[in-house]
Amino acid sequence: MEKLPLAIVGCGGMGGRHLLGLKELYDSGMANVELVAVCDPRLDNADHLADEAAGLLGARPGVYADMETMVRQRPEVQAVAITTDARAHHAVATTAFDLGLHVLCEKPMALTMRGANLMLAAQQRAGKVLSVAENYRRDPMSRVTRALIDAAVIGTPFLFLDISASSGNRIVITPWRHQKNCGGMLLDGGVHNADMMLYYLGDVRQVFSEIRLWETTREQARSGGVSGFYARWAGEMPATIAATAEDTMVAVVSFASGVMGQWTQSYAGHGQGFGRRQLFGRRGALTPGGTRNGASPVIHLDDRKQLTGDGLLEHVPDFCLDRVTARLFGGERLAAYTLPFPDADRKLLAIQLYELADCVFNGRTPEVDGRLGRRAMALCYAGFESSVLNRPVTLDEIENETTGLYEADINAELGI
Ligand SMILES: NC(=O)c1ccc[n+]([C@@H]2O[C@H](COP(=O)([O-])OP(=O)(O)OC[C@H]3O[C@@H](n4cnc5c(N)ncnc54)[C@H](O)[C@@H]3O)[C@@H](O)[C@H]2O)c1
Repeated sequence: MEKLPLAIVGCGGMGGRHLLGLKELYDSGMANVELVAVCDPRLDNADHLADEAAGLLGARPGVYADMETMVRQRPEVQAVAITTDARAHHAVATTAFDLGLHVLCEKPMALTMRGANLMLAAQQRAGKVLSVAENYRRDPMSRVTRALIDAAVIGTPFLFLDISASSGNRIVITPWRHQKNCGGMLLDGGVHNADMMLYYLGDVRQVFSEIRLWETTREQARSGGVSGFYARWAGEMPATIAATAEDTMVAVVSFASGVMGQWTQSYAGHGQGFGRRQLFGRRGALTPGGTRNGASPVIHLDDRKQLTGDGLLEHVPDFCLDRVTARLFGGERLAAYTLPFPDADRKLLAIQLYELADCVFNGRTPEVDGRLGRRAMALCYAGFESSVLNRPVTLDEIENETTGLYEADINAELGI
C-alpha cells in the first residue's frame, strides 16, 4: 500500500498519543502513513518521542527543532500531524502549508478566530489538505448515537442539555490550559463539546452566554493526568499557578434547526464531579454514547421503554461503521464495546491518520475540514464574546471577525 511520509510536530502528551495511533494503524495491516520525522523546539521531547517510535514502529524517525530544516533534510515529508499546544497551531500550520505540506491539526484548530482565518487562507493558497483532529465524533458510540438521532427514534429533537462541572482548583493536565493566551479549558475542552453539538444536531446560529474565572490560583493535581500520558513531565509541574483563563461558562445555544441548547461547563466544580448530556425529542430522551469508554447510548421512550446496547440496532437497520473503524473496533454494527481508555483512544487517532492519507491520495475532503474545525471554535468563541458584549452573538459574526473583543489582546500578543 502507498504510504504518506509524515512528521509529528509537537512531541508532548498528544504527540505521544499520535505515535500510539500510528502503531495501531501499522498493526492493523492498513497503514497508509509512515512516520519519518518528529519536530519540537524542545529537543529532549523530540528525542524521547523518536526513541519511543524506534521501539514501537521499528525505525527511528529523524529529529528536528524546526520544520524548515526538517523539510530541507527530509524532502520526502509530505504531511504533518500538528500536536503542539494551541498557541502555536496557526503559525505551525501556515509554515507547513507554505512548505507544501498537508496538515492534520489537533483541536482547537487555532487559538483565536483570526488565527483560524489565517490558517484557512494559507491552506487555500497552498491547495493542500487540512484536517482538524476532532476525535470524539469518530468513536463508534458517537456514530450510533448520530444514526439514532437521524432515525428520529426519540422523535424530533427540541432540547439539548450539556452540563458538566469538575476539577475544583486543581491544574487540569498542564498549566497552559489555564492561561487565556494559550487557550483555557473552556476552549481546549469546550471545543470537543462544540464539535459534538454540530455533529449531532447540525449548525448553530447564536449563543448567549456568561463566562467567569472563579479559581485564580490552581494547585498541582494528585494524579499524572490523562491515563499517565503526561507522567514524563510530572516533575516540571509547579505546585501552584496563577490562572488567567475563565473556567466557567453558562450558555444558551440556538441551533439553526430550532433546537434549544443549554451548555454549562465548569472546570471549577469542587466536591462531587458532575457531567450529563441529554437530548429530548417529542417522543423520548436520548443520552448519547460515551467517548473512549464504549458506553452505549440510552433511550427512554414515553411508554417507559428503555433501549440500550444491541436493542438499539433494530431501530437503525442501515447503520454501518466505515471499513477502517469496523476493522479497528471489531464489528460493523456496534452499540457498545469493552476496551480500556488508552486502547480506544489510539484507535480513534489511527482512524484520523488513515483519513488524512486517504484524502491526500484520493483527492477527498476530510470529515472535519478547516471550515468545520473553525465552526466548532466559533461556537466556543461566540460564548466568550457574548459574555463580553452582554448580548447574543452569532457564529457568523465571530467567523467573519465583525466582532472580536475577547480575543483582541491574544491577537495583539501574537502579532496577528
Ligand atoms: N483530541 C484529544 O483528545 C486531545 C487530548 C489532549 C490534547 N489534545 C490537543 O493536542 C494539542 C497538544 O496538547 P498536549 O497536551 O500534547 O500539550 P503538551 O504541552 O503536552 O505538548 C505540546 C508540545 O508542543 C511543543 N511545541 C510548542 N510549540 C511548538 C512549535 N512551534 N513547534 C513544534 N513543537 C512545539 C512543546 O514543546 C511540547 O512538547 C493541543 O492542541 C490539545 O488541545 C487533544
